[in-house]
Amino acid sequence: MESNTQKLIHSFGALADLGQEVADSGDFMEMVRTSLHLLLGTLAIRRGAIVESPTHLLPEDKSTNLLAVWGVGENYQPKFDVEDADREMFLNVTDGAVEVLGLVQSPTSSVQSQNRTGSGSDRVEEVIPTTGDSSATFGVRYATELTQQGIELIIPMAVRGELTGLVLLGGKASGEPFSADDLEVIKSMARHIGVGIHTHRLLGEVKQQAVENRRLYEDLRAIYRDTVRAFAAAIDIKDKYTQGHSERVGKYSEIIARELGFGEEEVEGMAIAGYLHDVGKLVVERDIINAPYRIDAKQSSELNRHPAAGFEILSPIHHPYADIPLMAKYHHERMDGRGYPDGLTDTQIPLGAKIVTLADSFDAMTTDRPYKTRRTFDEVIIDLRHNTGSQFDAIVVTAFCRALLKELNGETKERRFLKMLGKNYLDATKDIPLLKELLAELDPNTRTAAAGTA
Ligand SMILES: [Fe+2]
Repeated sequence: MESNTQKLIHSFGALADLGQEVADSGDFMEMVRTSLHLLLGTLAIRRGAIVESPTHLLPEDKSTNLLAVWGVGENYQPKFDVEDADREMFLNVTDGAVEVLGLVQSPTSSVQSQNRTGSGSDRVEEVIPTTGDSSATFGVRYATELTQQGIELIIPMAVRGELTGLVLLGGKASGEPFSADDLEVIKSMARHIGVGIHTHRLLGEVKQQAVENRRLYEDLRAIYRDTVRAFAAAIDIKDKYTQGHSERVGKYSEIIARELGFGEEEVEGMAIAGYLHDVGKLVVERDIINAPYRIDAKQSSELNRHPAAGFEILSPIHHPYADIPLMAKYHHERMDGRGYPDGLTDTQIPLGAKIVTLADSFDAMTTDRPYKTRRTFDEVIIDLRHNTGSQFDAIVVTAFCRALLKELNGETKERRFLKMLGKNYLDATKDIPLLKELLAELDPNTRTAAAGTA
C-alpha cells in the first residue's frame, strides 16, 4: 500500500504540474479544484472546501471567496467574514511553527470542545451567539454552520505573513482520527495551495499594475503629442507663408511610412518627425524665414543652420520614438551627397530622414510660397522623376506614389491627399497614368528588364 509520503510525492508532482499550468494558462480555479480533489483523495476525506480570504488590499471587502467545494450539503456555499482579529488568530496558528501541523487549534478546539461537552448540535447552538456579531471569534460565529456541514478541520493558508485562504476539511471516510502523518500531508498540501493563491493574486496585481502603467504611458504620450503639436504650431506661426507646413509634412511622412510597412509605433514616430523637422527654424531670424523674395547666399547659409539647430533642440528631449533628432538633422541631406549639414550620401542617411525629405519637398512644391505659386501635379511628377536617385531615395518615392495612387484609385477610404492639396489640385483621370508611369520607371524589375533588352 502506498505510504503517506509516497502519496504526498505523487500529489505534489500533480500539483507542481498544475502550478506550472496556472502560470501558463491562468486557469487558477481549475488548479484549486484539482488540488482539493487530490487532498481529499489522498487521505480519503469525505468533504472539503477551499476559500480565499479577503485581501488586505481591499479592506472594505471582508468576505471570503469560495474557490472549490466537494461533498458538503447541496447548495452549501461556504462564505465567511474575516475580521482583523480572525486574521490575526489564523496567522498565529500558522506562524511557521512545525508543531502546528496544520490543525487550527483555536476554531477546531472550540468545535471539539463543544462536541465533547455538549450533546451534538443542540448544545452548540445554545452557546453560539447570533451569527454576524463581528466581535465574537470566528469559531463562535461559524462553528454551528461548519459542524452541521461535517467540517472538522480548518487549515489556514498564509504566505509571507498574509492570510491567503482557508482549507476546510471533514473527517476521514474510515472514521479514524487524523494521524500526525495525515496532518503533515494536509499542512504541506495546504501550503502549496496557499502559494498558488498567493501567486494568482500577485499575477492579478501585476496585470492591474500593467494596465495602470499602460494608462500612464498613454497619458504621457498624449502629453508628448500635444507638446509636439504646440511646437509645430509655433514653427508654422513664425513661418507665415507656409502655415500648416509642419503638420502636412507630418501627415505625408506618416502616409509614406505606412506604405513602407512600418509598424504602428514607427508610423507614429514618423508623423512626429515630420511635425518637428523644421523646429530649428525657431532660432533663425524671422525676416529670413519670411523673406518675400529669394534669399541671398548669406541668408541662405543662416537658414541652412536650421537642421543642425533642430537636432540641438530635440536631442535633450526623451522622445518615445527612435531617432527624431536625427530625422530633423538630416532632412536636407541628399542621396548624391550635395545636401546639408553633413553632406551624407545614400546609405548614410537614415530612412526616416529620407521620408521627411520627400514629404517636405512635396509640400514645398504643392503650396504657394511668397516668391512662387505652387507647381502643377505634372510638374511635380517631372521633379520627382528628375531628382529620384540624386535627391530622393527611389524606395521612398515609390511608396509615396503608391499611396497616392491608392487614394486616386479609391482603394483607400481616407482622402488625406485631397484634404491637404485641396479639391481642384488632383485629377484622377490625368494623374493616375502619370503615377503609374513613374512607378514603372522606378521599379527595379522594370529597369532591369529594360537594361536586359537594351
Ligand atoms: Fe527644413
